Amino acid sequence: MERQWWHNKVAYQIYPKSFYDSNGDGIGDIPGIMERLDYLKYLGVDILWLSPVYQSPLADQGYDISDYYKIDPCFGTMRDMEALIKEAKKRQMYILMDLVVNHCSDEHLWFKKAMADPEGEYGNFFYLADQKAGRPCNWRSYFGGSVWEPLPGTDKQYLHMFHKKQPDLNWENPKVRQEIYKMINWWLEKGVAGFRLDAIINIKKALPMKDYPADRPDGLADAGVMLAHAEDIGEFLREMKEETFQKHDAFTVGEVFNDKPEELAAFIGEDGYFSSMFDFRETVMGTSPKGWYDSRPVTGEEYKQACFESQEQSGDLGFYSNIIENHDEPRGVSHYLPEGQVCEASKKMLAGLYFMLRGIPFIYQGQEIGMENVDFQSIDEVDDISSRAEYQVALDAGVSEEKAMDAVRRYSRDNARTPMQWNGNCHAGFTVGTPWLRENPNYRRINVEEQRDRRDSVFQFYRSLIALRKNPEYEDSLIYGKCIPYLREQKNLMAYFRRGENKTLLVMGNFQEIPQKVKLPGVCEKVLINNMDWVDDGTDREMGLKGWQYVVLEMRMQDGL
Ligand code: GLC
Ligand code: CA
Repeated sequence: MERQWWHNKVAYQIYPKSFYDSNGDGIGDIPGIMERLDYLKYLGVDILWLSPVYQSPLADQGYDISDYYKIDPCFGTMRDMEALIKEAKKRQMYILMDLVVNHCSDEHLWFKKAMADPEGEYGNFFYLADQKAGRPCNWRSYFGGSVWEPLPGTDKQYLHMFHKKQPDLNWENPKVRQEIYKMINWWLEKGVAGFRLDAIINIKKALPMKDYPADRPDGLADAGVMLAHAEDIGEFLREMKEETFQKHDAFTVGEVFNDKPEELAAFIGEDGYFSSMFDFRETVMGTSPKGWYDSRPVTGEEYKQACFESQEQSGDLGFYSNIIENHDEPRGVSHYLPEGQVCEASKKMLAGLYFMLRGIPFIYQGQEIGMENVDFQSIDEVDDISSRAEYQVALDAGVSEEKAMDAVRRYSRDNARTPMQWNGNCHAGFTVGTPWLRENPNYRRINVEEQRDRRDSVFQFYRSLIALRKNPEYEDSLIYGKCIPYLREQKNLMAYFRRGENKTLLVMGNFQEIPQKVKLPGVCEKVLINNMDWVDDGTDREMGLKGWQYVVLEMRMQDGL
């Protein structure tokens, strides 16, 4: 496979609003990111994905953009953004912007013009329909309710797959596509290294629109059903790539939920539409079509099998981007580790297991210090629109308030959106003002200052994982090598080889509290990483792992293996 500049990189997602506040207004900002670049450099990450900082009414925290060419004043200025790009470059770091082009904000000029003159040029920038004919289809928006909303001051209605303040752009209109490509190129010329492509799979609708069988008492159908019927998205994606990313050798990572195995090569193969896309197989496990209140916890076994299925699917045809959390998910350690078992050892094990898979590892801010879910007491403490909608879905289904809050505690996106925990001082050192969202009270225990120089901290463990991935000696195995499951049926053991031309590494995690023994397929030459001080010096043929122990071994394999 042809080598690309991003293959051996490690990425880090910044949620700017909650990262670091430089001016005391309670909102994280771009100068704040700049102040923390050296911290990120010390951690060892290269690619920095910024969740949206464009001008926005922030109805969905910036995923509702009212001007793609402006920085929202709460985050800083265009000058700040340019300075950030420059400072990042100085440190051999790359900035990714979030590309939100399935929809814009209802406060975008295009939408205002569409409202003023629905029959005019900008009416066709959106999906509009006459009100009097009723709803054109019964699709449910991702944030609840119908995707159709009256277009204020007109006899029309418009489509929104997400919140009603996020009208969908009509990609079938070539003028829309040209406007988008122009904007992408403008940012690439400014020096950003690429984009994370938000909700990108939604840009192609199944047309003509029609109803699908209702799947809840509201008479609506899950949007995913429509997506499964949409065809030929590839035409848009290829055009976008050729008109923009390709010319700049940009790195792109797609947010794709409904990936179809037979299409993977077209998406992330050598000549794919994107450089990479997120592997969400683990994150959707346990979810229920009824809503969060009906979802169930994920076991270690399920987690392992999901990871392996994705690895098998991609094989060496391309690179997934691997995560345990992001700004739309609860904290990975709270989600994947059993309740009552979340400790530094198990956090490190989980980190190590996903980190050595084939693909690009993404770290979400705070993950590197093991930040955990929040113990929200009431829905009033929650800001996120989707959490509030899910809370209502639960109540509507007859679930008690306490149970509905349980679901929010387990799945709320705000679990990941509380301020970054820099130190044990007031507001976790995030701001000298009042944070826009209350910090997780556990910041006194879990924070950067406490971990940075502690040899056995979660933070230092992440540093060692990154360092190993970057060690040129292991590039052949850890970056380009095959990922081959080992002892897949052994319960609560997640083990796999990363096999290159010259070296074979064995990655193993004991996904349980009690110890277990593992047969070795060859001789361990070197322990490259260990999340404990102890290593079993048993025999050449067998190794004992303590509860939550994680190791990476360099192996001398027996012939034929
Ligand atoms: C993506 C984003 C999410 C946002 C949605 C709508 O899923 O990650 O935060 O709400 O798209 O833009
Ligand atoms: Ca600020």
